Amino acid sequence: MISYKPIGIIRSPFKEPKGTPIQAAAAADVAGIIEVGPEYAAGLKDIAGFSHLILLYHFHLVREPSLVVKPFLDNEPHGIFATRSPARPNAIGFSIVRLAKVEGNKLHIRDVDIIDGTPLIDIKPYVAEFDVRADVKSGWFESNVHKLSSTKDDGRFVGSYEVETRVYFADQKEAYAAVPFLKQSLHERFEWETATYGLDLFKAGKLLRVSVINRGNQQKVFWGCKGPDIGKLYNIRLEQDEEITGGVQASSILASLKGPDVPVAPDNIEQVLASLGYEKFMSFAGTNWTGSYEGVALKLMVCPALPYPVLVEFEKTACTPAEAFEQEQELQAFVARFGLEKRVIKKEPPTLLYESWPPV
Ligand SMILES: C[S@@+](CC[C@H](N)C(=O)[O-])C[C@H]1O[C@@H](n2cnc3c(N)ncnc32)[C@H](O)[C@@H]1O
Repeated sequence: MISYKPIGIIRSPFKEPKGTPIQAAAAADVAGIIEVGPEYAAGLKDIAGFSHLILLYHFHLVREPSLVVKPFLDNEPHGIFATRSPARPNAIGFSIVRLAKVEGNKLHIRDVDIIDGTPLIDIKPYVAEFDVRADVKSGWFESNVHKLSSTKDDGRFVGSYEVETRVYFADQKEAYAAVPFLKQSLHERFEWETATYGLDLFKAGKLLRVSVINRGNQQKVFWGCKGPDIGKLYNIRLEQDEEITGGVQASSILASLKGPDVPVAPDNIEQVLASLGYEKFMSFAGTNWTGSYEGVALKLMVCPALPYPVLVEFEKTACTPAEAFEQEQELQAFVARFGLEKRVIKKEPPTLLYESWPPV
């Protein structure tokens, strides 16, 4: 076992993976600050003489390592060591950044592709005579680097915590009357059918499900996995969702379930889940309308199989449990602002359904 202590922290404008540039080379001029721990400040002597620094840091938001990944720049899977993907067995990141200014133990840097709050493991000076190579071959990147500047992190390597609560109504009319912003904030409608798998997993608080979504005449299939609820007031769960409509080569959900390295598609998902011992035990269907209001995602769910046939869900997402607990407080204030506290149902739809199963 090796253990390293961070020597500092990296500050950047990027608060979450989604939307962050995928390399420093595609983050021209993005400014950040390295706050080096005071106990390491003496180690910065002479650093101002360098225009560029090599930063080694810990991808602290990555959840599961994966040996085969679908990187941002390609739709084909590649071995993790042939990529710069964050989901590495040792989650070490490497960026060459520009040094703009040294101010005591603060280093002002540019070209930052790193998320705010990332623990810094090491700084090395970039030395062209050591670090620039000629006759370089860049493997599978060669036919994909043209996508560099237009590609951003889409959040695929981090789990996100959903923070959600829901309130019940007798019908849609009652919901629109009680939630004043609802009707004008819902913009999308779709029909869904969701099957849940692995009764033991479900009883242990996890949720494994496959959903078929119909929007107009377009059908998509997703599968997803939610971790146990860690919410104090509402539901907070680590959530992973993956679209499998056209088949997925290196499924991150399958990797986190320690499943076999096989492609996952709508026509083999049952078989893949059965091979892991997860059989289908429940399914239900309904219609959703979705939208957002003041940064809160909204969902109006009409599902006749549930004991509460009309539910309005309020949801936020967070990268870390600490952020999720803050958002839980914000959601509580949101619910209180509209006088909806008495209508809150903490249990999620699959639990409500299971407790009333089979539906009458
Ligand atoms: C493909 S990785 C490459 C990073 C680095 N330049 C490298 O080659 O090791 C780039 C993505 O890592 C993500 N990232 C940066 N800091 C992170 C952190 N602390 N935890 C998880 N992901 C992070 C960002 O969203 C960024 O888009």
